[in-house]
Amino acid sequence: MTNSPLDNLDDQVAGLRSSIDALTTLDELRDAEPFIIGKRSILSSLQKSLGVLAPEDRKEAGARLQEARRLIEGLLETKRGELNAKERVERLDADRMNLGDVVTASVRWPASVGHPSLVAVTQRELEDVFVAMGFTVSEGPEVESDWYNFEALNIPPAHPARGMWDTFYVELGEPETVVLRTHTSPTQIHLMETAVAHGNLPIHAVMPGRCYRRDTPDARHLAAFHQIEGLVVDRGIAFSDLAGVIETFTRAYFGPDIESRLRPGYFPFTEPSAEFEVTCTICRGDGCRTCSQTGWIELGGCGMLDPAVLDAVGIDGDVWSGFAFGFGIDRCAQMRHQIADMRALIENDTRFLRQFS
Ligand code: FA5
Repeated sequence: MTNSPLDNLDDQVAGLRSSIDALTTLDELRDAEPFIIGKRSILSSLQKSLGVLAPEDRKEAGARLQEARRLIEGLLETKRGELNAKERVERLDADRMNLGDVVTASVRWPASVGHPSLVAVTQRELEDVFVAMGFTVSEGPEVESDWYNFEALNIPPAHPARGMWDTFYVELGEPETVVLRTHTSPTQIHLMETAVAHGNLPIHAVMPGRCYRRDTPDARHLAAFHQIEGLVVDRGIAFSDLAGVIETFTRAYFGPDIESRLRPGYFPFTEPSAEFEVTCTICRGDGCRTCSQTGWIELGGCGMLDPAVLDAVGIDGDVWSGFAFGFGIDRCAQMRHQIADMRALIENDTRFLRQFS
């Protein structure tokens, strides 16, 4: 009977297993690998020597050898995983600070501490202007029912105005539709309801806060932005009172060099209504990309309270009248600080933001 090259295979596999067991570092494994499984390994020599076997024995011997190779490969991979984990823990241990270690890395001083955003600062400034004019400050929820955001403001379902105030829906339909508010105007409704319930009309209030719209961000728009709403409900209020408040606000916030104008406009909850605009501070009225070449920038809408709104909250329109306005806070900041593109406010470029610290 002829000797097979695989007669000692089991012993050879046991020898390879011991060699693998003895490896203690990844470097050792890397060095040993060619001799255990690579071209210079005993397994590769055995593979070449199978040629001496008779063809009918060669297939079975090949299969045995293949099985031995798979076993050794598996043992090597297991070892590699163990050594990897062990060395990772050793590296972390070496990095860990111990009691008594002296920390020599220097700390930059003064440390950078950040500052309120330009929009937050602007909101405060606008509140201050209105407080000085005798207004109080209130806030309302950012998540509103359809009734507060639309219906109570004289915008029934399918009203075309819903299109321009399309928003993000939190809940659709039953028991009620809930939306991220598209403007601060619903806070008017909350305030009037509370005043009616507690019998404390008149109201002179401003209501700042965040609003959301399905608007594509551009030089003058963001999908999440801020407004400051104004509401006056009192006896004998006329459009001239509204115009006077807006004029006083413009002078106080922008100074005497900025021109403002009221243009006839339309809002379902005010009648008559107007758009409040100021000269574009980027081009000083010449026309530029920010103002779409018009020389004017719309800061907000305003108007006299529509009787349907007073009705919805149970205020007697024969006794009380009033006006409301809603200005964009981000837009005010944009015009005051001549920011050509509003998106800069949310891009987190510290070189831009640091200017307003
Ligand atoms: C309104 O939101 C009305 N609620 C304003 C109002 C209140 C009218 C009370 C009458 C009485 P309008 O959609 O035009 O109106 O928005 C008012 C202002 O909010 C705009 O002039 C602008 O300054 C700001 N604004 C509106 N959409 C955006 C937006 N996507 N990004 C930044 N600012 C915006």
